[in-house]
Amino acid sequence: MTKRMGQGQSVSTIDKERRFAAAMSVSMRVANARFAGKGWRFWHFDANAGCGWNHAANVPGSPLVFWHIAHECLLGMQPAPYFCDHDPIAVEQLRSRLAGDPAAAGSILLPGDNEDGLRLFASRIRHAENPKFAVGAVMIDPNGYFYRSAKGIGAPVAGISAFAAEFPRIDLILNLNMRTFLLQRGAGHAVEPPRAVLDGLRKKHWLVARAGGQSRHLLAVGRNMPTGDHRAIGFHYADSQLGRKILDVDAAPDRSDDLFGEAA
Ligand SMILES: C[S@@+](CC[C@H](N)C(=O)[O-])C[C@H]1O[C@@H](n2cnc3c(N)ncnc32)[C@H](O)[C@@H]1O
Repeated sequence: MTKRMGQGQSVSTIDKERRFAAAMSVSMRVANARFAGKGWRFWHFDANAGCGWNHAANVPGSPLVFWHIAHECLLGMQPAPYFCDHDPIAVEQLRSRLAGDPAAAGSILLPGDNEDGLRLFASRIRHAENPKFAVGAVMIDPNGYFYRSAKGIGAPVAGISAFAAEFPRIDLILNLNMRTFLLQRGAGHAVEPPRAVLDGLRKKHWLVARAGGQSRHLLAVGRNMPTGDHRAIGFHYADSQLGRKILDVDAAPDRSDDLFGEAA
């Protein structure tokens, strides 16, 4: 079980630094409310983990955010995070950054391609638990859109749909750059619009948020168990009026849709 880190930062503080913290907190809070104290693990796979620090914005990277939110929200579950990145230097930097927190130092680091990493993650869960009941989240934060280049850069688009079918209680969290989508679509690349991407990922319920800023990131959390719409943290049902607007790739950006009502 995890203990608070005592860094003096609340979930809302770190949300302002990394907006996908809100998405992680949705998955963790719901899991913790149902499964705390029963010896269950919270499985987590970060497909684009990076080095633990986002130098461009000078904010913590997704693995540090994971641990921060886990210490806040997973009070009765055992975190089991796997952090994957194909840049070996980034993975070593991440290892050093996690070393300062005894709980985080037990994270599994996977230097290599995220399609391979996702297969390994799936096999570890299969050996430990019944895939139907395993709980957790897969985070996809590729810097671009839901896409994998010919050189293998991007999201694990080949394996994720079958993974979602086999592990129905593991949520999907996507942080997608809509500016990249618009550029790729404009250049004639075969990119599906976000609604089609979500429909192909085998989750019954999607919450969506627009994370604002010039890149217009789309945050999406896919789950099979129904949940509240979490409007207070900017998430709307994909099929609601606001959700449809957020998924409308041709709608003009609107500051009022931003998760925190401010530009990133
Ligand atoms: C936006 S950056 C890291 C973002 C990170 N989640 C954060 O919060 O700082 C995207 C990362 O994805 C990694 N990456 C890209 N394609 C990958 C692949 N096929 N397998 C594993 N990592 C990949 C890159 O090396 C890069 O570190």
